Amino acid sequence: MRRKSLISTEVFDVKRLLDQVALVTGASSGIGSGVALCLAQEGAKVIVNYASSQKGADAVVAEIKEQGGDAISIQADISQEDQVLNLFAKTYEAYGTIDILINNAGLQKDQPFTEMTLEAWNKVIDVNLTGQFLCAREAAKEFIKRGVVPGRSCSAGKIICMSSVHEVIPWAGHCNYAASKGGVMLLMKSMAQELAPHKIRVNSIGPGAIKTPINKEAWDTPAAEESLLSLIPYNRVGESNDIGKAAVWLASDESEYVHGVTLFVDGGMTLYPGFATGG
Ligand code: BGC
Repeated sequence: MRRKSLISTEVFDVKRLLDQVALVTGASSGIGSGVALCLAQEGAKVIVNYASSQKGADAVVAEIKEQGGDAISIQADISQEDQVLNLFAKTYEAYGTIDILINNAGLQKDQPFTEMTLEAWNKVIDVNLTGQFLCAREAAKEFIKRGVVPGRSCSAGKIICMSSVHEVIPWAGHCNYAASKGGVMLLMKSMAQELAPHKIRVNSIGPGAIKTPINKEAWDTPAAEESLLSLIPYNRVGESNDIGKAAVWLASDESEYVHGVTLFVDGGMTLYPGFATGG
């Protein structure tokens, strides 16, 4: 039994993504693994993409299978065009098509601006922005070629870009990361404008501070967590599951008319919390 109706006491067993194929990039840990698990729980067949941690990816696949779901792992560095082509070829070999792309893989290489190396700049832009472009382009080609499959989803395909609160909040010491996420915002919106006539939905999720390895030092001591909470009006650090639940909704037909937006899932981090007592 999965969901209780709010209007009656009847209990439905609804799997919102039944038989849809979902590719989650960077799904061997962090937000990606949480999203992969949530999509699988809603009936999606999941490709758990990873760049280097096969162990992490295999653990996510095993967990999905334990829960009665269907998943495989595929290695690919999504910043490399040939590897992206191979990732999609293997996806079609395994499951025939794709319905949902979660453009999640991302990383940080934080450095003070005047000390930032070109290498740190390029690496972050390559993975966080170019990687999203390459994967979205391949997914969009398949969505256009195949079109809407009646009974599976109202849309020909769904692309969800994992952005960040830092697509709108400037972030000193993280210029490469903030620039990549600002880029993702207009990549997402421009794709949304261009692909809508094909019934392809494109949106982003903008996570705030979510407890994952990428920001461990920001929450793994009581002092760090207290300081982080001062930036979160809802007064709780997020969990991967918070993002997974949002991804399920955005990928499902429940959000069919939602297109070209960033859904911030951030406990209010984008609300300028300093102004609660200042200004
Ligand atoms: C970053 C995290 C950070 C959060 C809020 C995310 O996009 O990856 O490191 O904690 O934004 O600042």
